[in-house]
Amino acid sequence: MKKKYLINRYGSLASWVYHIDKPIGKSFGDVEYYLERLKGCKGTILEPACGNGRILIPLLERGLDVEGFDASIEMLRYCDIECEKRGLKGKFRKEMFNTFTYSKSFGAIIIPAGSFQLITDVNEAIDVLKRFKLALKEKGRLILDLSTIASLSEPPMQARQWRIPDGILTLTEDREEINYIEQTVLSQLRYEHWDANKGLVKNEIDLFYLRYWGVKEFELALKSAGFVNISISSNYEYLKAPTNETHTLTFEAS
Ligand SMILES: C[S@@+](CC[C@H](N)C(=O)[O-])C[C@H]1O[C@@H](n2cnc3c(N)ncnc32)[C@H](O)[C@@H]1O
Repeated sequence: MKKKYLINRYGSLASWVYHIDKPIGKSFGDVEYYLERLKGCKGTILEPACGNGRILIPLLERGLDVEGFDASIEMLRYCDIECEKRGLKGKFRKEMFNTFTYSKSFGAIIIPAGSFQLITDVNEAIDVLKRFKLALKEKGRLILDLSTIASLSEPPMQARQWRIPDGILTLTEDREEINYIEQTVLSQLRYEHWDANKGLVKNEIDLFYLRYWGVKEFELALKSAGFVNISISSNYEYLKAPTNETHTLTFEAS
């Protein structure tokens, strides 16, 4: 049985590593892409799973009206600190994909970094898409990224480490399961904080569970949730058709 309380939780070491490895503004082509696509967006933008604010903060800095939510208090704490450093008034709260509610509706909802793939149950994913639709204004747009299904059979990542004052943070991945029927990959991520004088001071295990979608399959999921005007872009080139070389798909729908 999967330990639900450990799944995709982005605890304190995971959040620390994320913030060092993917600091505010670090771009995979996505920061520029979302900035461009959101130009002239009418209404507030919502970023579910905004994390440490890697994308949310650059959007705020360009004067866009963005709010976010995330399931991890630790990730949101980084977002808070980084907003404060920049004198920005960030609006974000702790919410989950499947239960979030807002009293207002949004001009756009964005989900970069493949975070939508953290929802591993297809029916739940479609319910979340419906929830996004309900949260959008009439002409509002949903823009989200998915890694292609090619990643389903990629090997686990090699052990990594990051230097911090007086020590290192390490991350190792053990693959627990690839399920080709459910299109899911379950890994055990082990984070450790080693202090130069005290040795191992903390460790943390997170189960990382992702679902990979086929291109047509996701288009159908969007349609079944009531979305129209669906476009697909490849590797952050707007409307570039996906090929076998595509690593990131961006879906846009209204
Ligand atoms: C890959 S990070 C993305 C952070 C940020 N959007 C970015 O682009 O750098 C994924 C985020 O999803 C959040 N998350 C995981 N499960 C979630 C859920 N069920 N509801 C909301 N957020 C969730 C995690 O806490 C984490 O901050």
